[in-house]
Amino acid sequence: MADPWQGAMDHAVAVARKAGEIIRDALQNDMKIMCKSSSVDLVTKTDQQVEQFIFDSVREKFPTHSFIGEESVAAGQPCTLTDNPTWIIDPVDGTTNFVHGFPFVAVSIGFAVKKELEFGVVYSSLEDKMYTGRRGKGAYCNGLPLQVSDQTDISQCIVNSEMGSNRDPEVVDRIFSTMRKILCIPVHGLRGVGTAAVNMGLVASGAVEAYFEIGIHCWDIAAGAVIVTEAGGVVMDVDGGPFDLMSRRVLAANNKTIATRIVKEIDAFPAERDDAPKQEKQ
Ligand code: IPD
Repeated sequence: MADPWQGAMDHAVAVARKAGEIIRDALQNDMKIMCKSSSVDLVTKTDQQVEQFIFDSVREKFPTHSFIGEESVAAGQPCTLTDNPTWIIDPVDGTTNFVHGFPFVAVSIGFAVKKELEFGVVYSSLEDKMYTGRRGKGAYCNGLPLQVSDQTDISQCIVNSEMGSNRDPEVVDRIFSTMRKILCIPVHGLRGVGTAAVNMGLVASGAVEAYFEIGIHCWDIAAGAVIVTEAGGVVMDVDGGPFDLMSRRVLAANNKTIATRIVKEIDAFPAERDDAPKQEKQ
């Protein structure tokens, strides 16, 4: 039977590539930087322009589909996953990198139907790397198949994580305490490239064994989750429970052995869900 979502996936790849061109062009120009939840949670005109471009292009081709986009949610749109085919988009994943010219900036497009992720497209625009994953059909980067690392010994691993944008000293302490514990297992290295989508692409390609973060959003990880699992990896909650796209917590790893070992070291803390009712948000 023909793949019912192949057309949508082809469109996602085309639109991500074009969005990446907009990002590369914008890097040459002066950018207007604004703050969202705090002085370290940045947004630029490019984030908004790229999201609008993707939204218009998807809406024209798939008028009945739903849309969750980082900047639309920041502007007050709901962040609720329904059974309707839904595009989950981060137009510029790695906005801080973009602002500083740190060379990892991705367009991330996840697609879910009946709350199940069907495909993910991550375009690492400055590296010109197009990661794709289609449920049941494998993951690719620039057309070549992706396979996670086969490492099962944690002491031979590189683990990626991020500091995020929460500067509450208690949260920062917990993040550093977790990183210290993981580093001292010991592991070969602890890294982070400033975009969740590319961190997950690196797990899928076997360059690193794992990536985890608390405080992340659904648009940062929806696409990457499909790419990692289709490359043979696992995606779960940081406490080892099932992955919940809206929970703002993720652990992606090459296999369960490595994931379970990392879970033991994570000082997990709750994060307000992406789909929490608005009036309850602080
Ligand atoms: C951010 C990146 C970063 C992660 C933050 C995200 P943004 O996304 O994915 O790696 O640490 O938690 O918010 O804001 O650049 O789209």
